[in-house]
Amino acid sequence: MATSNNDMPPIPTVRYAHIVGWGMAVPDTILTNHDLEAIVETSDDWIRSRTGIKERRIAGETESTASLGLKAARKALEVADILPTAIDLIVVATSTPENIFPSTASLIQNWLGATRAGAFDLSAACSGFVYGLDMAAQAIRSGSMQVALVIGAETMTRVMDWQDRGTCILFGDGAGAVVLKASNVEGGVLSAVLRSDGSGGEMLGIPTVGSEDLYHSDFSSNGHKMHKMHMNGGEVFKFATRVIAESIQQALVKAEVGIEDLSLIVPHQANMRIIQAAARSLKVEPELFAVNLDRYGNTSAASIPIALCEAIDQKRLKSGEYAAFIGFGGGLTWASMIIKWTGAKTPDARSGINQQRRQFGYMRVRFRTQWKRLNQQISNFIDRITFRRNRIQRLRDKVDQL
Ligand code: ACO
Repeated sequence: MATSNNDMPPIPTVRYAHIVGWGMAVPDTILTNHDLEAIVETSDDWIRSRTGIKERRIAGETESTASLGLKAARKALEVADILPTAIDLIVVATSTPENIFPSTASLIQNWLGATRAGAFDLSAACSGFVYGLDMAAQAIRSGSMQVALVIGAETMTRVMDWQDRGTCILFGDGAGAVVLKASNVEGGVLSAVLRSDGSGGEMLGIPTVGSEDLYHSDFSSNGHKMHKMHMNGGEVFKFATRVIAESIQQALVKAEVGIEDLSLIVPHQANMRIIQAAARSLKVEPELFAVNLDRYGNTSAASIPIALCEAIDQKRLKSGEYAAFIGFGGGLTWASMIIKWTGAKTPDARSGINQQRRQFGYMRVRFRTQWKRLNQQISNFIDRITFRRNRIQRLRDKVDQL
């Protein structure tokens, strides 16, 4: 028997981590291929035929990686019918964090009022969501945690070089989240294969804080713009088509599931031609893959959870069916996972009281955060006045001594 880190009752150690909640959020603003024709030398026809992308979402002025992640997280908690205080761990997979620190995960933890949760960001580019899901599932299966929230959230359009037509046409913004919960029922996350090949790191990246060139130039020594994404598309394309099939097959072997048992494959949404090549390598129909890159482009770590949410809403997964996730990207990193789907409570079975408690909790957190800020401002003000008063007093004392 093991105990949870939240003083919950002891639970048996043979456990499974099930996805019991999911949610997504994308900005309202749409940037079409035709809009891009006015920004760089490109065409709708080129982008559609080379990538399959028709449009993508762009975060507005008041939106951020954290605000999109928060929206997705709230929806996932609603589907899971779980209170934020039940969450043990929040992992945010992102390449576009709000800050280096505090983490986007900590911001979301505060806004949710998840007062008993640990929180951290995870950097594994477009593979990040699968990495995060596996880390959280392991924590649950080990018995140390009961509930985890895993979020993939990005504002990739803020790190684009809008003069580079090879990258700016590909990416979009959005977030997806899932709630993982401990259960004794067989299923949930069955296996994962996580891999990295840092020797290919030059193929795509975003040079940023910590880079040795930061203080010398707007460009890093290899010529890439600081804080902007660069990519060798052709090389990444070859890498992706090589690893997808291999990685899924390894995860299937680990899970003791056959490829013919899969009802759905949720791939990272990078390029339709990559997905078609993977289907050929795996000898499966392309229709087995969940695809929404035509509407959202490549949302990096958010692309798998967003595609998963849409596939679930389209009822592409039934209880007892198997699905595979496959992510690949910067690092280089790649990661695959096999899950056995068990679904979630139907909307009728969800507790209305929990719903009200969540809403009340979000209001309370907003109030508490604003109250804390106000308190801080008042105490800063008092400190300043006290400091001035002391200085005046010291001056008076000096004058008196003259
Ligand atoms: N519009 C018009 N022409 C273009 C554009 C554009 N937007 N971009 C490139 N071209 C031109 C090139 O200049 C080149 O012209 P040239 O032949 O005169 O030199 C020609 O089109 C072909 O360029 P390629 O780069 O060879 O085009 P390719 O077919 O490889 O497609 C693409 C490029 C779409 C980027 C593709 O390589 C790709 O999808 N790569 C994989 C990206 C990926 O999977 N990323 C995932 C990881 S993302 C992450 O981890 C954050």
